[in-house]
Order: sequence, then structure tokens, then C-alpha cells
Amino acid sequence: MSTTDDIKARIDIVSYVQRFVPSLKKAGRNHKACCPFHNEKTPSFVINPARQTWHCFGACAEGGDLFSFAQKLHGWDFKEALRELAAEAGVELQRQSAAQKSRNDQLERLRGITASAAEFFQGALRREAAAGIRSYLREQRGLNDETVQAFQIGYAPDSWDFMLRALRGLGHQDDDIVEVGLAVRNENGRVYDRFRNRLIIPIRDERGRVVGFGGRALGAGDSAKYINSPQSTLFDKSRLLFGLDMGRTAIREGGAVVIAEGYMDVIQAHQAGYANVVAQMGTAMTEPQIRLVAPRYAKRIVLALDADEAGQNAARRSLDVARQTLTRDFAGKLSVDIAILQIPAGKDPDDYLRESPGGWPALVEGAQSVADFVIDMEAESLTADSSLQARQAVAQAVLPMLLVSENNVYKQDNIQKLARRLRISERDMLAWAQEQAPLPQQAPSAAPPDAPPDLPPEYWDNEYEIAGPEFAAESDGAEKPAELPAPSKPLKHAIEAFCLSALLKNPDLLYQVNRKLRELAAEDEDLLRGPLGELCAHDFTQSQYRALMVFLQDSMAQDDMAPMEYLKDVLDDDLRTEVMALLISDSDAVSERINGNFQVDLNDIFRRGSQKARPGFSLPGFSLKEDLVIRALQLRLQRLDSERVEMQYLQEEAQTGSESDDHYRDQISAKIMLSMRAKARINVAVS
Ligand code: UTP
Ligand code: MN
Repeated sequence: MSTTDDIKARIDIVSYVQRFVPSLKKAGRNHKACCPFHNEKTPSFVINPARQTWHCFGACAEGGDLFSFAQKLHGWDFKEALRELAAEAGVELQRQSAAQKSRNDQLERLRGITASAAEFFQGALRREAAAGIRSYLREQRGLNDETVQAFQIGYAPDSWDFMLRALRGLGHQDDDIVEVGLAVRNENGRVYDRFRNRLIIPIRDERGRVVGFGGRALGAGDSAKYINSPQSTLFDKSRLLFGLDMGRTAIREGGAVVIAEGYMDVIQAHQAGYANVVAQMGTAMTEPQIRLVAPRYAKRIVLALDADEAGQNAARRSLDVARQTLTRDFAGKLSVDIAILQIPAGKDPDDYLRESPGGWPALVEGAQSVADFVIDMEAESLTADSSLQARQAVAQAVLPMLLVSENNVYKQDNIQKLARRLRISERDMLAWAQEQAPLPQQAPSAAPPDAPPDLPPEYWDNEYEIAGPEFAAESDGAEKPAELPAPSKPLKHAIEAFCLSALLKNPDLLYQVNRKLRELAAEDEDLLRGPLGELCAHDFTQSQYRALMVFLQDSMAQDDMAPMEYLKDVLDDDLRTEVMALLISDSDAVSERINGNFQVDLNDIFRRGSQKARPGFSLPGFSLKEDLVIRALQLRLQRLDSERVEMQYLQEEAQTGSESDDHYRDQISAKIMLSMRAKARINVAVS
């Protein structure tokens, strides 16, 4: 039982409402009163004890359960209602909440430290003593003051305790300063500054909060070119993209992102006017990093790889990265295009941009998709009269990487390309694929049958440490438990769950649903304002889902943040857990949909052993959008049906009971008729 169900089981809605609405009277199977939410003379506020619901059939035309009543009456948000009602019911809220609350507080505190540190470093760069560093930035790196300012570039003086003293001065504890990695504690317990005599580049998360630092060596004798903040509660390189806070708008507008390797590449690109460049900071690319931008903001990802030192093995290195990218199936999983950009002549993007900034857009435009790139490279040695064996060898090298993809459309497309390039019929190619035991089940990145599905945990401030097994290993040595939050209950409210999870994954789909409803209303004002109004919390019966729907609508009504980020801010732990459960429940829907569109024989070849079919859940042949629209209409039908039942009760009572208010009866009849009209239109649309 979920917390909300538990609370509802313990607090009877009739007695609860009675306390605030003393005029509540039994009337047949229901209880009735004048609505506490608007002014009226004839009671149209009804409680249904059997269902534990309330409804105002008058001006509010609204209803819900205990939670929505309490929220509306007291002006509480869902979180407050949960807290208050839990206390009243004697239900203990999940202990985890307290732990997570303290964790959030800790994160806030640590962010305070990094934010202050960034300012101290910036201040140090402005000092007289740092004139040399400023001229290095200007002359050697070609960065103007504005860029230096925008990226908050700073300087760590050559001292053991510059930062320690500054932060202690603000009242921060050594433990915290060590925790965020600004200081180091040695075996003797001595604490000293980590960054000394280095150029400092603050690393900010996608919301612009400083979470770590990169420090570039200035002297020749320094051990490493860069030292970075160590992995910590606050700083997780595998879930960050440097420059994303400043690049997000450009990425969203252009639908493309360029992922480079280094800080300097990003900084230079911004200065040159290309703001859609971010950096993975020298690590191997991770799925959480990609999910920060794709597929939501960018459908095209261009990997801008450095040529390596000698510039000779550049192609080889690109091929390695490309193969890795293919094998991980980033493009297939996220339905995005990933392309490989090779900078000519052994340069990195920074060098190239300084020399020929004007050439950059064409370079990015010309980047080759990762599958094409791998196919071309592997087939490079083939000539017009290469033997079948030689061509087959290439197929054998490339096919496994293509077969890994969960996305059949993407997979089929790539196999076609390979077949064409090798002048082999697609049928033969697939036959080979079949012979190539072991097939996808054992391909490198295929998840074991019960592995957690891929989720976008990066949306959640690392509060849920979920990573596919192959990604867990990448996080700079800091191992994390790959635990999933247990779905809070079997999804008995499957349609509600489906709709909400689809909307969470792609909030813009709400517009599609509402457009459909408007279309059905066909400019009939009564339908538009009534039973064919926009999808809203009342279409859901579960309190948590209602609350999520309200927040989702709020998130769409603001433009400051992406809806998901907005949610991240406003949701409490219970609702976050709910969101996680919803996203998990939906993980198969997309691939099932693609399978549904695909020819049967290929489907059989490619079907992964691990794929669990969930019959009757996704609609074969429909896109997610169409699927959602239909499901949402079904929800609306259910709501209309249950509202109509209540109205019919009222009607019966108005006819037989003491009430003989004709006007009131007519009003209800009209509402029932309207509801029937809406139902008929929806039925036509759904069938
Ligand atoms: P690069 O060596 O290409 O650095 O490493 P860069 O950004 O081009 O720097 P400049 O132009 O030489 O000053 C790419 C990225 O790899 C990470 C950094 O994030 C760097 O930006 N890196 C590199 C490290 O973390 N540590 C290192 O020692 C080197
Ligand atoms: Mn460089």
C-alpha cells in the first residue's frame, strides 16, 4: 500500500470534511452540503463515502479525494497535505525522506563552499601578482576579458592555504572543504590546498551551480596538465558536461550539440560564437552525460575528437571511440544521430577555432554518422574486386556492433548501409548475422535479463544511484550500488501510469492530448469548458498521480527551466520515487512500439531474449504520441463515467427526495447530456 493509500484508509473523508463543513448532511448514499469552495444556495457539493471522493457539481465542477480536498481547503501543496494528513492518521512518512532531506541540506552546504571558492579564485586572478596569468590567458590562449569573466576563470595562488584560510574565514569546516576536494588531508592529518599555482576553471552543472574545478598547470614541472576536483557527493564527472549551463539555449534552438573533450575547446568555441559546444572533460563518454542533452534538446550529437599528439593515429583513435559509441548503442537507445567530427591536421577544436573560426560550421555539418564512419573505416581496404571472403570478414567485424542496437529502425538502416557498402544482399547479411553465434544476447553491451532498465537518473541529483552495469564502472573508481527503487506498487492503475510516464518522458505530448480534446469539442464552448476540457489532475484517480499532473502542468506553464528540471526542484521525495517507478514501468514501451512496426521475420531475428513482452499494454502500430492520446481519452471516459454516476444519484434524489428545485434538476440533466455527448465523441475517436 502506498503512503497515500494508507492515509486514506485511516481517515474517513466524510468525517474529515464534516469538521470543516458542518452543514454536511446524509442524502441517500451520499453526503451533501453547500460547496465550501464557492458561494451557493443549493447544495451541489457531494461526498461519496463508498469511493471516498468529493465532487462539486456547481461552479467549481471539480472533485477528488481526501488529498485534493485538504489541499484546496487549506491551500496546501501536495507535500504539505501529505505531511499534515500523515501526522493526523498516525502514518509515518518514509524514513528515507529524512535521510534524503539531510542529504539535500548537505549538498546545499557544499555548493555554498564551491560557489565561494570560485569567487576567491576569480579574485586572485584580478590581483597585481596575477598579471602574468592574465596575459597568458590573453596572449597565449587568445581569450578576452569577457570570456574569462563568463567562465569565471580564476587563479589558485602558489600557497598551501590560500583557499583554506579564505573558506575558514567564512566559517566553513575543514571536513567540508576536504569533502568538496578543495583541500586534501594527508596521512598525518594535515590539511592543505589541492589547487596551487594553477589556472582555475570552475565546472558548473547544467543549472549553473559550481560543483567542481579543473586546474591547469602553469609551470613546466607540474605533474599533471590538469588536476580536477575528485569524485564526491557534489562532483560526478560522469554526469556532467562542461559548458552545458551556458550552451543549453543554443543546443535547444539548434537541436544539435557538439561534445568536445576539453575545457579549452568549449571556452574557445563560445568566444567564437558557437555556444552549442560542451565537453566531456577527458573521460569516456557516459550515457548519463548524453542524456543531459539528448534526445530532449538535441537530436544530433557531434563528437569533436582531438587528434592525438602526433596527429597520426587520429583516425585510429576516432575509430576506437566510434566503435565504442556504436557498441554502447547510445544512438539507438536514444534515437539520436551521433556523428564523428575529425579535426584536420592534428589539431584540437581549440586550435582549429583560433585559426579558422569560420570553417567550424561546415566541419560540424560534415561530420559523419558514427555507423557510416565505422563502416567506411573498416571497409577502407576493400577494392572493387575484393573477394567475398574479404568482404565477409568486414561484415563479421562490423555486424556485431550494429546488432547490439535495441532500436530496430536504426539497426535495420545500418545493416542496409553495410550490405550496400559490401555489395552483399541484405538477406545474406542477415543470414550471416544469424550464424554469428552468440547473437545479441551476448553482445558486449546487451544487458543481462534482469538488469535495471536505463533510466535518466541524472535528472535526480544523483539521489538514486542507478546505472547500467557497464556504466557503473566508469565513475572514476567510486563504485555505486546499482540499486533500483522498488516500484511502490504493482501498477494497478496501468492506464494512468502509462499516460503519466509518457508525459514525464515528453511533457510536450500534453499539447497533443489537449489538441485532440479541443478537436473533439469542435468549438463547442460547453464541451470545451466541461467534459472535453484540457487533461488535468481530475483525470487521474490516484492522489500521487494527481499531484504529479498538477506539477507537470505548472512545469509547462513556466519557461525558466526545462520541465524535468522544474520537477526536480519542486517534487518531494515521495513524488520523486513515484516518478522513478513510472519511468521504470515505461521502459519497454518504446522498443515494443518499434518492434510493432517492424517486419515479423526481422523481428524474430533481432528480438532480444531479455525483452519482456507486456501484452495489451502498448498498441502495436501506433506511435507513442497516438498511444498516449488514446490512453488519455480512455482516462477521460472513465472520469466522465464516474462523474455521471454521481450526477445520476443526485438526479434521483432531486426527483424523489425533499428537493423539488426544478432549476437544479435541469442543471444536472443538462450536465449529464453534455457528458454523454462528450463520451460519444470520444468513443468515436478511440475506436
Ligand atoms: P587536453 O589535453 O586536450 O586539454 O585534455 P585541453 O583542454 O586541450 O587543454 P590545453 O588546450 O592543453 O590547455 C582534454 C581534457 O581532458 C581532461 C581535461 O578535462 C581536459 O580539458 N584532462 C586532461 C584531465 O582531466 N587531466 C589531464 O591531465 C589532462
Ligand atoms: Mn588544447
